[in-house]
Amino acid sequence: MIKYSPMLKFGILTTCLIASALVLSACSGDAKDTHPQQLVSKRQAIFKKLTKTLEPMGLVARDRKDYSKGEFQAEALALQELSSQPWPLFAPDGNYPPTRAKPSVWQLPTEFKKAQDSYLATVEQLVKVSSTADMAAIRQAVNEVEKSCKSCHEQFRSER
Ligand code: HEC
Repeated sequence: MIKYSPMLKFGILTTCLIASALVLSACSGDAKDTHPQQLVSKRQAIFKKLTKTLEPMGLVARDRKDYSKGEFQAEALALQELSSQPWPLFAPDGNYPPTRAKPSVWQLPTEFKKAQDSYLATVEQLVKVSSTADMAAIRQAVNEVEKSCKSCHEQFRSER
């Protein structure tokens, strides 16, 4: 059996993921965002940026990337800055295809706001510990942020 280096494996895996993402988006036939303010496209783009910004911190938390104080703190602050941005885009007229948001976003505004607030609190905590070099606290804080993304998705985002 051929032995691939971990880096090469990672490279192959990412290439496959990118390739399948391209194929999926080409085939899914999603509706075009025709809203004058492009609410759905805008908030989906912000969520993608959130994912990208959180990613390196996730690697640090899993010991797959070295912790660097300045870098990690800047990433945590960037996450915080982005984290306030999606919510105003869930406007009353913002529920239309190709959204993945569940109707519960508009039916249960108080719960949706609660999910935002508890998420923002986890990001606040991450910012607080980001420059401490306290790896246990950092790991815990990253974990809480990730759990919070997930818990909101379970309640308010539908599967594709
Ligand atoms: C308070 C609820 C809530 C929180 C917290 C939240 N999300 Fe989401 N997220 C949503 C909803 C609702 C959608 C569906 C948006 C749409 O399609 O209109 C979504 C969509 C997404 C998408 C898909 C974007 C697309 O192109 O379809 C990604 C990726 C994502 N979120 C990542 C994250 C990450 C990462 C976090 C945490 C750092 C996070 N979200 C936190 C509610 C939330």
